[in-house]
Amino acid sequence: MSDVRALAAQALDQVVRGGVSLRAAFAQVAPRLADSRDRAFLSALLHEGARWWLRYDALIGRLLQKPLHRREPVVHALLVLGLVQLAVLALPEYAAVAGTVEATRALKRPQLAGLVNALLRRFLRERVALEAVIGSDRLLSSSHPAWLVQQLARDWPDDVDAILAANNAPAALVLRANRRRTTPAALTERLVGAGHAASMHGWLADAVVLEDSTDVTHLPGYAQGEFSVQDGAAQLMPDLLDLHDGLRVLDACAAPGGKTAHCLERHALDLLALDRDSQRLAQARENLTRLGLRAEMNTGDATQPSVWWDRRLFDRILLDAPCSATGVIRRQPDIRLHRRSGDIERSAAEQAQLLDALWPLLRPGGRLVYATCSVLPRENAAQVGAFLARTSDAQLNHDAVPARFGRAVATGRQNLPGVDGMDGFFYAVVEKAN
Ligand SMILES: C[S@@+](CC[C@H](N)C(=O)[O-])C[C@H]1O[C@@H](n2cnc3c(N)ncnc32)[C@H](O)[C@@H]1O
Repeated sequence: MSDVRALAAQALDQVVRGGVSLRAAFAQVAPRLADSRDRAFLSALLHEGARWWLRYDALIGRLLQKPLHRREPVVHALLVLGLVQLAVLALPEYAAVAGTVEATRALKRPQLAGLVNALLRRFLRERVALEAVIGSDRLLSSSHPAWLVQQLARDWPDDVDAILAANNAPAALVLRANRRRTTPAALTERLVGAGHAASMHGWLADAVVLEDSTDVTHLPGYAQGEFSVQDGAAQLMPDLLDLHDGLRVLDACAAPGGKTAHCLERHALDLLALDRDSQRLAQARENLTRLGLRAEMNTGDATQPSVWWDRRLFDRILLDAPCSATGVIRRQPDIRLHRRSGDIERSAAEQAQLLDALWPLLRPGGRLVYATCSVLPRENAAQVGAFLARTSDAQLNHDAVPARFGRAVATGRQNLPGVDGMDGFFYAVVEKAN
C-alpha cells in the first residue's frame, strides 16, 4: 500500500495506542514512499496528527453516536487526520475529503467510506460552531492532557497559557556550527548561498537559525560534519562547564551525544561519555564520527559508578538528566500523548539518585552542571534545592548561567518554551567546596 493518508493513519495509531515514538513510527513507514513530497506530507500528517490528537479525538467523540476508536482504531486515526488536513494544514477541502475517503478504501474498510465522508462534511458545514466549542475549552483548544494542564497551572499560574500556546507553535530549526570544521558565519553564508533563510543567532556563539524546516541531511556541509541540529537552549553547556583543554569530564547521560560533541568541538578534553542505552550510545558514536570527534564511550548505569568508574576524579560532570521532556513538546508533539502524571515522581526519584551517585566522582573545586528539558520545578529547582540541602560540600553558583537565558528560579535558571525562540530548559551550576 502506498496511500500516504492510510499509511499515516496506521502509523499514528501505533503512536497513540502502541506507545511508539513519532520518530520511530515515521522511520518505519517513510521508506515505503518513493517520492520525497509524499514523505514530507507523511511527516506533516504525523506531527500535526500527534499535536492535535487530543483535540480532534475528543471532537469526533462528540460528533459520532457510535464511537469508532475501539472497533476501528485506524479509521478513527484517519478521521483525526482528515480534520487535521482541513483545520490545521488548510488543504483544499475537496482534496482533503476525497483523499481521506480514498484512504478508507486503501485500508480495506470501504464500508466506512460513507461515514468518513459524512463526518468531514459535517465538520465543514458546522465549522464555525465547532471552532467556538473548541475555543471555549482549554483542554480542547490546547490539545494537552488534563493532568499536564493542571500541573502547569499550579507551577506557572501566570505563564500556563503562553506555555500551551508555545507547545503548539512552529519552532525554527537551530543548527550548531562545528567550530573544528567551520564558523557560524561561514556556515550561514553557505546555507544562504544554497537558497535557505539562515541567520546567525543573536547571542549564542555557535548557533545558526534556519527558518525553513527541511531535511538537514541534504543541506550542504552536513555529510562533512560542519554542523548538527541542536536547539539554542541546549547550546549553553560548554560555557556553563567552564571548560579548558585537558580537563577530565564525565558526560553521565550522554546519548545521542549532542552536548558531548559540542564540548569536544570547543576543547581537547579527556571525556567519558556514558549512557545506559547502548543503541542510543551507538547513535552518539555515529554522530561523533561524522563530526570528526573522539571520546571514550561506555554503556553503563550512572547510578552504579562502581561498575564503570576507574577511580580518577572528574574536573567537570555534565548531568543532562532523563526527565519528562515537557520543555520540548513543541518539537516532539507525541510527548503529550505518552507522558503520564505518575512519570514525574519516577523521573524525579531517578534524578535524585543520579545526583547523589555522581557527586562523589567530582574533585574538590570541580563543577557539576545539572540540566533538563523539563519545565516542571519538581525536576528542576526543587530537585537541585533538595540536593543542596542534603549535600554539605555542594554550593550553587547562581551567576554562572547567563542572565539573558530564561529567568532566575530558586536554584538555577529556567527557560520556558518559545521564550527567546528556545526550548524549555533548566540549568543549575553546582560547585564542590575545596
Ligand atoms: C536527555 S537525554 C541526554 C541527551 C544528551 N545529553 C544529548 O545532549 O544528546 C537523557 C539520557 O539519559 C540516559 N539515561 C537515563 N538514565 C540513565 C542512567 N541511570 N545512567 C546512564 N544513562 C541514563 C538515557 O538513555 C538518555 O539517553
